[in-house]
Amino acid sequence: MQFQFTEEQLMIRDAARDFAQNECLPGVIERDEKQQFPGEQVAKLAELGFMGMMVKPEYGGAGMDTISYVLAMEELSKIDASVSVSMSVNNSLVCWGLEEFGNKEQKEKYLTPLARGRKDGKLHIGAFLLSEPEAGSDATSQHTTAEDKGDYYLLNGTKNWITNGNSASVYLVMAQTDITKGSKGINTFIVEKNTPGITVGAKENKLGIRGSDTHSIMFQDVKVPKENRIGPDGFGFTFAMKTLAGGRIGIAAQALGIASGAYERAVDYAKQRKAFGKEIAQHQAIQFKLADMATRIEAARLLCLRAAWEKDNHLDYTLSSSMAKVYASETAMWVTTEAVQVHGGYGYVKEYHVERLMRDAKITQIYEGTSEVQRIVIGRGILK
Ligand code: CAA
Repeated sequence: MQFQFTEEQLMIRDAARDFAQNECLPGVIERDEKQQFPGEQVAKLAELGFMGMMVKPEYGGAGMDTISYVLAMEELSKIDASVSVSMSVNNSLVCWGLEEFGNKEQKEKYLTPLARGRKDGKLHIGAFLLSEPEAGSDATSQHTTAEDKGDYYLLNGTKNWITNGNSASVYLVMAQTDITKGSKGINTFIVEKNTPGITVGAKENKLGIRGSDTHSIMFQDVKVPKENRIGPDGFGFTFAMKTLAGGRIGIAAQALGIASGAYERAVDYAKQRKAFGKEIAQHQAIQFKLADMATRIEAARLLCLRAAWEKDNHLDYTLSSSMAKVYASETAMWVTTEAVQVHGGYGYVKEYHVERLMRDAKITQIYEGTSEVQRIVIGRGILK
């Protein structure tokens, strides 16, 4: 076992760190306040190859490994989790799903521009439409239907909480094609956003990741070409579960970044803020907090890297990605709350960033499977 990154992995980490500092930090507080989608930042990330990081170069990607993806996600999430969630969904849920399970025609037509993050000179990203008003954790309870009409499927229903909902050009939509077959009656379809019958709801006014583009999407008699179904009939739920296993590595790395961003700010602050005649870092009460933060972050990092390594080595990473996500997201919530505490009153105001990181941390315990769902997956995995 070697605890060492390659030169290439370190280069990616440094490039993501510089990008976060130079392109994401300026204006991050204002974007959060105004709920402004970081379109400019995401477009620049695409130019650098970060929107299709793990896709093979023949399909427009950068051909990097999952370890590099974890490193990049951590660095970006230290500064702006609204940028990193957009990158994570496009990489893990959209591009990976298409590359792994799409056919050659689907990959050429849809994956290549999505991996580049650009088409016709414009931002071109995707979204993953599984959640519904009454199907969140209980994901097999799909109410959206796709009726087989011979040449095409007719899509009807509503999807909720969709990241990149308005900014995406391509949706991967899960829908029920045969209610009698339960999870085996679900399919996944590639749907172009400009298809007639699609309505994008208002942007959600959220606690955290406020820049992120979260919307409901409504489908009314939307015609989807037959050739846009991914995989064999009834493969849609397996598609969703397998894709989410990789997505959870991305969100775990996002949580790790949010935690380490807050921790680094707490260390800097504790070294310069004085109380009772010395820097607060010299008080054991603060040192113990920092020590616990550093330890939990390191444990979260190792879990993320372990899951990424398993994925890169074609092992089953379902269990390790759920472990990484539940641990990293709970670490993020705890560390960011402690970081606010270390900052005292300053932590409670926006200029010091840690209150935003605390708000951003919360979603990592909810999306791409709540902490409770991760425990279900882990429980089933260890008891099987
Ligand atoms: N890989 C392959 N197949 C899998 C699988 C996996 N990881 N997990 C389950 N399956 C299969 C099962 O084997 C089963 O098949 P059989 O009937 O042949 O045995 C079938 O799928 C149904 O599975 P379960 O019986 O386990 O289903 P369940 O109803 O008990 O639900 C669950 C399991 C783990 C709770 C699942 O519903 C789940 O993960 N829910 C959370 C959904 C989620 O993560 N949503 C996130 C939305 S996307 C998002 O947030 C993106 C964003 O915008 C940021």
